[in-house]
Amino acid sequence: MVGRLEGKVAVITGAGSGMGRSTAVLFAREGAHVAALDRNQDAAAATATTIQEAGGQATAIAVDIARSSSVQAARDAVLTTFGRVHVLINNAGIHDGFPALEETSEELWDRVINVDLKGTFLMTQQFAPHLREANGAIVNLSSGAGFRAGGGGVAYTAAKHGIVGITRATAAELGPSVRVNTVYPGPTMTEMTRTLMSEDELAAPVPVPMARFGTPEEVANVVLFLASDDASFVTGGAYAADGGWLG
Ligand SMILES: NC(=O)c1ccc[n+]([C@@H]2O[C@H](COP(=O)([O-])OP(=O)(O)OC[C@H]3O[C@@H](n4cnc5c(N)ncnc54)[C@H](O)[C@@H]3O)[C@@H](O)[C@H]2O)c1
Repeated sequence: MVGRLEGKVAVITGAGSGMGRSTAVLFAREGAHVAALDRNQDAAAATATTIQEAGGQATAIAVDIARSSSVQAARDAVLTTFGRVHVLINNAGIHDGFPALEETSEELWDRVINVDLKGTFLMTQQFAPHLREANGAIVNLSSGAGFRAGGGGVAYTAAKHGIVGITRATAAELGPSVRVNTVYPGPTMTEMTRTLMSEDELAAPVPVPMARFGTPEEVANVVLFLASDDASFVTGGAYAADGGWLG
Protein backbone atom coordinates (compact mmCIF):
# COMPACT_ATOMS: atom_id res chain seq x y z
CA MET A 1 0.00 0.00 0.00
CA VAL A 2 1.28 3.49 -0.86
CA GLY A 3 1.43 5.81 2.15
CA ARG A 4 -0.17 9.24 2.18
CA LEU A 5 3.26 10.91 2.53
CA GLU A 6 5.26 8.50 0.37
CA GLY A 7 8.75 9.89 -0.36
CA LYS A 8 8.02 13.25 1.28
CA VAL A 9 10.48 14.86 3.69
CA ALA A 10 8.72 15.99 6.88
CA VAL A 11 10.33 18.24 9.51
CA ILE A 12 8.63 17.92 12.90
CA THR A 13 9.57 20.04 15.92
CA GLY A 14 9.08 18.67 19.42
CA ALA A 15 9.32 15.20 17.92
CA GLY A 16 10.80 13.76 21.11
CA SER A 17 7.54 13.69 23.08
CA GLY A 18 3.75 13.69 22.98
CA MET A 19 2.03 14.79 19.79
CA GLY A 20 5.29 15.51 17.96
CA ARG A 21 6.49 12.00 18.61
CA SER A 22 3.14 10.44 17.57
CA THR A 23 3.11 12.59 14.43
CA ALA A 24 6.65 11.51 13.55
CA VAL A 25 5.82 7.81 13.97
CA LEU A 26 2.56 8.13 11.98
CA PHE A 27 4.20 10.13 9.18
CA ALA A 28 7.00 7.54 8.84
CA ARG A 29 4.36 4.79 8.64
CA GLU A 30 2.77 6.80 5.80
CA GLY A 31 6.07 6.77 3.89
CA ALA A 32 7.63 10.08 4.97
CA HIS A 33 11.33 10.61 5.63
CA VAL A 34 11.19 12.23 9.05
CA ALA A 35 13.52 14.90 10.44
CA ALA A 36 12.78 14.58 14.17
CA LEU A 37 13.73 17.92 15.73
CA ASP A 38 13.77 18.57 19.46
CA ARG A 39 15.63 20.57 22.08
CA ASN A 40 16.03 17.27 23.90
CA GLN A 41 18.46 15.42 21.64
CA ASP A 42 18.10 12.05 23.42
CA ALA A 43 14.31 12.20 23.06
CA ALA A 44 14.57 13.04 19.36
CA ALA A 45 17.04 10.18 18.91
CA ALA A 46 14.65 7.77 20.66
CA THR A 47 11.87 8.74 18.24
CA ALA A 48 14.19 8.26 15.25
CA THR A 49 15.26 4.84 16.57
CA THR A 50 11.62 3.76 17.03
CA ILE A 51 10.91 4.73 13.43
CA GLN A 52 14.03 3.02 12.07
CA GLU A 53 13.31 -0.19 14.01
CA ALA A 54 9.87 -0.28 12.37
CA GLY A 55 11.54 -0.03 8.93
CA GLY A 56 10.99 3.72 8.41
CA GLN A 57 13.40 6.56 7.69
CA ALA A 58 14.24 9.18 10.30
CA THR A 59 17.06 11.42 11.47
CA ALA A 60 17.21 13.18 14.84
CA ILE A 61 18.37 16.79 14.90
CA ALA A 62 18.85 18.96 17.98
CA VAL A 63 17.33 22.44 17.83
CA ASP A 64 16.21 25.23 20.10
CA ILE A 65 13.46 26.80 18.00
CA ALA A 66 13.64 30.00 20.07
CA ARG A 67 17.14 30.82 18.71
CA SER A 68 17.60 31.78 15.06
CA SER A 69 21.19 30.47 14.90
CA SER A 70 20.00 27.06 16.11
CA VAL A 71 17.08 27.04 13.65
CA GLN A 72 19.44 27.90 10.79
CA ALA A 73 21.81 25.10 11.80
CA ALA A 74 18.89 22.64 11.95
CA ARG A 75 17.69 23.75 8.51
CA ASP A 76 21.20 23.17 7.12
CA ALA A 77 21.32 19.72 8.75
CA VAL A 78 17.93 18.78 7.25
CA LEU A 79 19.00 19.91 3.78
CA THR A 80 22.34 18.11 4.04
CA THR A 81 20.58 14.87 5.01
CA PHE A 82 17.49 14.97 2.80
CA GLY A 83 18.14 17.66 0.16
CA ARG A 84 14.59 19.02 0.24
CA VAL A 85 11.57 19.57 2.49
CA HIS A 86 7.88 19.02 1.70
CA VAL A 87 6.21 19.30 5.11
CA LEU A 88 6.88 21.38 8.24
CA ILE A 89 5.06 20.64 11.49
CA ASN A 90 5.54 23.45 14.04
CA ASN A 91 4.59 21.40 17.08
CA ALA A 92 7.18 22.15 19.80
CA GLY A 93 5.81 24.25 22.61
CA ILE A 94 5.90 24.94 26.33
CA HIS A 95 3.10 25.84 28.74
CA ASP A 96 3.15 28.73 31.21
CA GLY A 97 1.56 26.74 34.06
CA PHE A 98 -1.60 28.90 34.46
CA PRO A 99 -0.11 31.78 36.54
CA ALA A 100 -2.33 34.75 37.34
CA LEU A 101 -1.60 37.95 35.41
CA GLU A 102 0.20 39.54 38.36
CA GLU A 103 2.31 36.40 38.82
CA THR A 104 3.41 36.23 35.18
CA SER A 105 7.01 37.41 35.33
CA GLU A 106 8.64 39.14 32.39
CA GLU A 107 11.04 36.18 32.24
CA LEU A 108 8.16 33.67 31.91
CA TRP A 109 6.41 35.85 29.32
CA ASP A 110 9.61 36.04 27.23
CA ARG A 111 10.29 32.29 27.54
CA VAL A 112 6.80 31.23 26.44
CA ILE A 113 6.51 33.79 23.64
CA ASN A 114 10.03 32.98 22.41
CA VAL A 115 9.42 29.25 22.14
CA ASP A 116 5.76 29.06 21.18
CA LEU A 117 5.40 32.12 18.97
CA LYS A 118 8.85 33.23 17.84
CA GLY A 119 9.91 29.60 17.37
CA THR A 120 7.02 29.03 14.95
CA PHE A 121 7.96 32.23 13.10
CA LEU A 122 11.69 31.36 12.87
CA MET A 123 11.07 27.81 11.65
CA THR A 124 8.55 29.01 9.05
CA GLN A 125 10.86 31.76 7.83
CA GLN A 126 13.87 29.45 7.45
CA PHE A 127 12.02 26.60 5.74
CA ALA A 128 9.64 28.67 3.56
CA PRO A 129 11.91 28.87 0.46
CA HIS A 130 12.33 25.09 0.46
CA LEU A 131 8.63 24.44 1.05
CA ARG A 132 7.84 26.79 -1.85
CA GLU A 133 10.12 24.79 -4.15
CA ALA A 134 8.38 21.57 -3.09
CA ASN A 135 4.77 22.91 -3.17
CA GLY A 136 4.68 21.87 0.45
CA ALA A 137 2.50 22.21 3.53
CA ILE A 138 2.86 23.60 7.05
CA VAL A 139 0.80 22.60 10.07
CA ASN A 140 1.08 24.76 13.21
CA LEU A 141 0.00 23.42 16.60
CA SER A 142 -2.07 26.03 18.41
CA SER A 143 -4.49 25.05 21.18
CA GLY A 144 -8.03 25.65 22.37
CA ALA A 145 -6.13 28.41 24.25
CA GLY A 146 -5.62 30.02 20.83
CA PHE A 147 -9.34 30.86 20.71
CA ARG A 148 -10.58 31.37 24.27
CA ALA A 149 -9.41 31.93 27.84
CA GLY A 150 -8.98 29.08 30.31
CA GLY A 151 -6.31 26.96 28.63
CA GLY A 152 -3.34 28.70 30.23
CA GLY A 153 -2.13 31.99 31.61
CA VAL A 154 -1.85 35.20 29.61
CA ALA A 155 1.49 34.29 27.97
CA TYR A 156 0.40 30.85 26.70
CA THR A 157 -3.00 32.21 25.60
CA ALA A 158 -1.37 35.10 23.73
CA ALA A 159 1.20 32.83 22.08
CA LYS A 160 -1.40 30.33 20.92
CA HIS A 161 -3.66 33.11 19.57
CA GLY A 162 -0.58 34.41 17.75
CA ILE A 163 -0.02 31.06 16.07
CA VAL A 164 -3.45 31.41 14.45
CA GLY A 165 -2.27 34.82 13.18
CA ILE A 166 0.99 33.38 11.82
CA THR A 167 -1.06 30.70 10.07
CA ARG A 168 -3.36 33.21 8.38
CA ALA A 169 -0.55 35.60 7.40
CA THR A 170 1.68 32.88 5.97
CA ALA A 171 -1.16 31.07 4.19
CA ALA A 172 -1.92 34.34 2.37
CA GLU A 173 1.72 35.02 1.59
CA LEU A 174 2.97 31.54 0.69
CA GLY A 175 -0.05 30.49 -1.38
CA PRO A 176 -0.57 29.10 -3.92
CA SER A 177 2.61 27.03 -3.50
CA VAL A 178 2.44 26.28 0.22
CA ARG A 179 -0.66 25.43 2.28
CA VAL A 180 -0.61 26.50 5.96
CA ASN A 181 -3.11 25.34 8.58
CA THR A 182 -3.53 25.20 12.35
CA VAL A 183 -4.56 22.23 14.46
CA TYR A 184 -5.85 23.08 17.91
CA PRO A 185 -5.82 20.20 20.39
CA GLY A 186 -7.86 20.19 23.56
CA PRO A 187 -6.79 18.34 26.71
CA THR A 188 -4.47 15.61 25.46
CA MET A 189 -2.60 13.02 27.52
CA THR A 190 1.07 13.90 27.04
CA GLU A 191 4.06 14.77 29.19
CA MET A 192 2.93 18.42 29.13
CA THR A 193 -0.43 17.50 30.67
CA ARG A 194 1.08 15.09 33.20
CA THR A 195 3.46 17.84 34.35
CA LEU A 196 0.75 20.53 34.55
CA MET A 197 -1.96 18.63 36.41
CA SER A 198 -2.13 16.94 39.81
CA GLU A 199 -3.03 13.24 40.11
CA ASP A 200 -6.51 14.24 41.32
CA GLU A 201 -7.00 16.53 38.31
CA LEU A 202 -5.80 13.80 35.95
CA ALA A 203 -8.28 11.33 37.48
CA ALA A 204 -11.26 13.75 37.45
CA PRO A 205 -13.86 13.74 34.62
CA VAL A 206 -12.67 15.85 31.67
CA PRO A 207 -15.17 18.68 31.00
CA VAL A 208 -15.45 18.23 27.23
CA PRO A 209 -18.24 16.53 25.25
CA MET A 210 -16.00 13.50 24.62
CA ALA A 211 -15.54 13.27 28.42
CA ARG A 212 -11.90 12.16 28.28
CA PHE A 213 -8.39 13.24 27.36
CA GLY A 214 -7.43 12.87 23.72
CA THR A 215 -4.45 10.75 22.79
CA PRO A 216 -1.49 12.20 20.89
CA GLU A 217 -2.28 9.72 18.09
CA GLU A 218 -5.75 11.24 17.68
CA VAL A 219 -4.21 14.67 17.20
CA ALA A 220 -1.57 13.27 14.81
CA ASN A 221 -4.35 11.91 12.57
CA VAL A 222 -5.70 15.45 12.01
CA VAL A 223 -2.17 16.78 11.42
CA LEU A 224 -1.63 14.02 8.83
CA PHE A 225 -4.79 14.97 6.93
CA LEU A 226 -3.70 18.62 6.68
CA ALA A 227 -0.11 17.73 5.71
CA SER A 228 -1.20 15.30 2.98
CA ASP A 229 -2.60 15.86 -0.50
CA ASP A 230 -6.02 14.85 0.89
CA ALA A 231 -6.20 18.50 2.05
CA SER A 232 -5.13 19.93 -1.34
CA PHE A 233 -7.64 22.85 -1.23
CA VAL A 234 -7.37 23.48 2.52
CA THR A 235 -5.31 26.47 3.67
CA GLY A 236 -5.42 29.31 6.21
CA GLY A 237 -7.78 27.32 8.42
CA ALA A 238 -7.93 26.03 11.97
CA TYR A 239 -9.08 22.50 12.77
CA ALA A 240 -10.05 21.16 16.17
CA ALA A 241 -8.85 17.91 17.69
CA ASP A 242 -10.21 18.93 21.08
CA GLY A 243 -12.97 16.52 22.10
CA GLY A 244 -15.39 19.42 21.66
CA TRP A 245 -13.80 21.78 24.24
CA LEU A 246 -14.43 24.80 22.05
CA GLY A 247 -17.81 23.69 20.73
N1 LIG B 1 -1.00 18.47 25.84
C1 LIG B 1 -2.08 19.20 25.63
O1 LIG B 1 -3.13 18.99 26.28
C2 LIG B 1 -2.06 20.30 24.60
C3 LIG B 1 -3.26 20.96 24.32
C4 LIG B 1 -3.29 21.95 23.34
C5 LIG B 1 -2.14 22.26 22.65
N2 LIG B 1 -0.97 21.62 22.93
C6 LIG B 1 0.22 22.00 22.12
O2 LIG B 1 0.62 20.87 21.36
C7 LIG B 1 2.04 20.89 21.16
C8 LIG B 1 2.66 19.59 21.64
O3 LIG B 1 2.40 19.45 23.03
P1 LIG B 1 2.67 18.11 23.85
O4 LIG B 1 1.59 18.01 24.82
O5 LIG B 1 2.94 16.99 22.92
O6 LIG B 1 4.00 18.57 24.63
P2 LIG B 1 5.23 17.74 25.24
O7 LIG B 1 5.71 18.58 26.37
O8 LIG B 1 4.86 16.32 25.49
O9 LIG B 1 6.30 17.78 24.05
C9 LIG B 1 6.84 19.01 23.61
C10 LIG B 1 8.21 18.76 22.98
O10 LIG B 1 8.72 20.02 22.53
C11 LIG B 1 10.08 20.09 22.86
N3 LIG B 1 10.50 21.49 22.97
C12 LIG B 1 10.15 22.37 23.95
N4 LIG B 1 10.77 23.54 23.75
C13 LIG B 1 11.52 23.41 22.63
C14 LIG B 1 12.39 24.28 21.93
N5 LIG B 1 12.66 25.52 22.37
N6 LIG B 1 12.99 23.83 20.80
C15 LIG B 1 12.76 22.57 20.37
N7 LIG B 1 11.96 21.69 21.01
C16 LIG B 1 11.34 22.11 22.13
C17 LIG B 1 10.21 19.36 24.17
O11 LIG B 1 11.56 18.93 24.40
C18 LIG B 1 9.24 18.19 23.97
O12 LIG B 1 9.88 17.06 23.41
C19 LIG B 1 2.54 22.12 21.94
O13 LIG B 1 2.68 23.20 21.04
C20 LIG B 1 1.43 22.39 22.93
O14 LIG B 1 1.39 23.74 23.33
C21 LIG B 1 -0.91 20.66 23.90
